[in-house]
Amino acid sequence: MARTFPFPAGGLVSDKMLAAYEADGFLVLTGFAPAGTCAALRRREYELIEAFDPQSVRTVFSTEDQAHARDAYFRDSGDRIRFFFEAGAFDAEGRLTRDKHGAINKIGHALHDLDPVFAPFSHDVRLKRLAEGLGLEQPEIVQSMLIVKPPFIGGEVGMHQDATYLHTDPVTVTGFWIALEDATAENGCLFAPPGGHLTTLRERFHYDGGALVKTTLDPRPFEDATGEPLEAPEGTLVVLHGLLPHRSGPNTSARRRLAYALHAVDGTARWSPDNWLKRPAAGGSAA
Ligand code: FE2
Repeated sequence: MARTFPFPAGGLVSDKMLAAYEADGFLVLTGFAPAGTCAALRRREYELIEAFDPQSVRTVFSTEDQAHARDAYFRDSGDRIRFFFEAGAFDAEGRLTRDKHGAINKIGHALHDLDPVFAPFSHDVRLKRLAEGLGLEQPEIVQSMLIVKPPFIGGEVGMHQDATYLHTDPVTVTGFWIALEDATAENGCLFAPPGGHLTTLRERFHYDGGALVKTTLDPRPFEDATGEPLEAPEGTLVVLHGLLPHRSGPNTSARRRLAYALHAVDGTARWSPDNWLKRPAAGGSAA
């Protein structure tokens, strides 16, 4: 079955696309963002980092451990625009080991609400229609991230399900991952096993009292811990089901891999109140 489709006019999901999504748990949709839009978003990413003083925070963000979970900088980033560094970005004396543009892992988590360039891009009506076509009755964006994956030190992200981090009952979180630069197996594209979403949620990352903890719900390993590369030319949108295991490799190449990821949930589902991300009282912003 085809897994790659041209992004449909108006975001209107075809029967074939829906069947592929239900079978595979992902869709690769080329041509969502035109070259000029990608260039404008990359310029904005440059401006954001240019205006950021890395000495103001030395948080090293790494999914290899959960040290960041203890860090208030991360906890309080749900409704702000904050900057997280690659592991190895600082030396033992707390000095940056490279230019800041090549040291940042990601920027998150409320670009969709706060940034004058990323907010209108995030609320593209085509995305809303796409989400509705894939089964979200009331799509609401809850989180946004610029994932930089800089050359040489861009870290890997291990196999995970997004519902681990953004939980609703029933599971509705859906990822919308947009390549702002070509993503290949060499510079750290996504990997996912087709059909891998037809399984249980393995873990939840959540508050337990005042502490952020990870709780195992199902101890079985994922059947396919590797997945297939979802290579994505610039402008491609990859949709990820909330239960689909996925990962991305390290960037050992000389080419950056910039992506913008949005996560939406269905407003009709129950938002789990112990999620790390605290939603605004108004209930978040519509997709
Ligand atoms: Fe993810």
